[in-house]
Amino acid sequence: QPPNSQTEESCVLKRADCRAKRGAPGFKVAILGAAGGIGQPLAMLMKMNPLVSVLHLYDVVNTPGVTADIGHMDTGAVVRGFLGQPQLENALTGMDLVIIPAGVPRKPGMTRDDLFNINAGIVRTLCEGIAKCCRNAIVNLISNPVNSTVPIAAEVFKKAGTYDPKRLLGVTMLDVVRANTFVAEVLGLHPKEVDVPVVGGHAGVTILPLLSQVKPPSSFTPEETEYLTKRIQDGGTEVVQAKAGAGSATLSMAYAAVKFADACLRGLRGDAGVVECAFVASEVTELPFFATKVRLGRRGAEEVYQLGPLNEYERVGLERAKKELAESIQKGVSFIRK
Ligand code: NAD
Ligand code: LMR
Repeated sequence: QPPNSQTEESCVLKRADCRAKRGAPGFKVAILGAAGGIGQPLAMLMKMNPLVSVLHLYDVVNTPGVTADIGHMDTGAVVRGFLGQPQLENALTGMDLVIIPAGVPRKPGMTRDDLFNINAGIVRTLCEGIAKCCRNAIVNLISNPVNSTVPIAAEVFKKAGTYDPKRLLGVTMLDVVRANTFVAEVLGLHPKEVDVPVVGGHAGVTILPLLSQVKPPSSFTPEETEYLTKRIQDGGTEVVQAKAGAGSATLSMAYAAVKFADACLRGLRGDAGVVECAFVASEVTELPFFATKVRLGRRGAEEVYQLGPLNEYERVGLERAKKELAESIQKGVSFIRK
């Protein structure tokens, strides 16, 4: 507690509450895992987003410090911190968007699936809270392994009777951000000029960049195709190895998470033509979840786009991706149903 917390309560927080209640323009956003490597820069960037009126920062450690720090930024959003399980419900009540980067990251030599045993339980608990306190919120799930944590979240919401497939989105934006960067390097373009659809899931061979659909239309040699596909699929491992035991991507992930959250908020506001890739409930393949481009609107992922024409290299990649994805999805479903 800061020494002047009572004064602050009477002088400032009530007005901030009034401002939020008056419907100061913008959305209410919670970050769960806000004190972590992704959570902190993500909190900072969301505090800078003019679409956010209220920002709730929840973690099981260190949120008072992060909240005090972020709260001093002279941008519009009212920031509140919440520490530990007993404060989860207050953190979630009334939220429009919940972003979840809670959970352990990889160390060198681990796969994302090696995180399942710890992160599955964390995601279950947080989603139970969402089902109870903000059932209509859009959920952006970052915690790995995304290919399993999204099915876990869906099962938790089904069990609670609150599941709306449109509102649950696994965040695969970092794959797109990496793909745009690496493809732009090869083409000699600015990354902003490049749009690479990345479909499938978010782990190794399940990450499938569709280089035949790159905008602006471009052709790649077999060598370039192989180099780019592998580099995009192994982007997370490249960072894990470079960090040498100090975690996985945090800064580029916070950037990607904010890019995706901003798209979700523009969709919620009713903007037309907001389209991004995400791992969602899908009928595009025989699998119940799959990442493709989706159109974001007031109800979340309102339209899930088809894959479009694939070349032979991508068709082979798709079959490989589906095989691994099927197992990861089943593992997530069984974790809740067992
Ligand atoms: P980190 O360890 O730095 O931070 C995680 C935070 O979660 C910590 O502050 C921790 O206290 C908190 N936490 C743990 N249990 C919690 C609980 N029950 N409730 C709330 N908070 C809890 O890790 P990080 O680098 O920020 O990565 C977080 C997760 O994001 C990892 O699983 C990582 O693999 C994943 N990730 C996903 C992507 C993606 O593209 N989807 C990219 C990068 C990282
Ligand atoms: C990433 O793609 O950077 C994340 O999924 C983290 C990781 O473990 O690779």
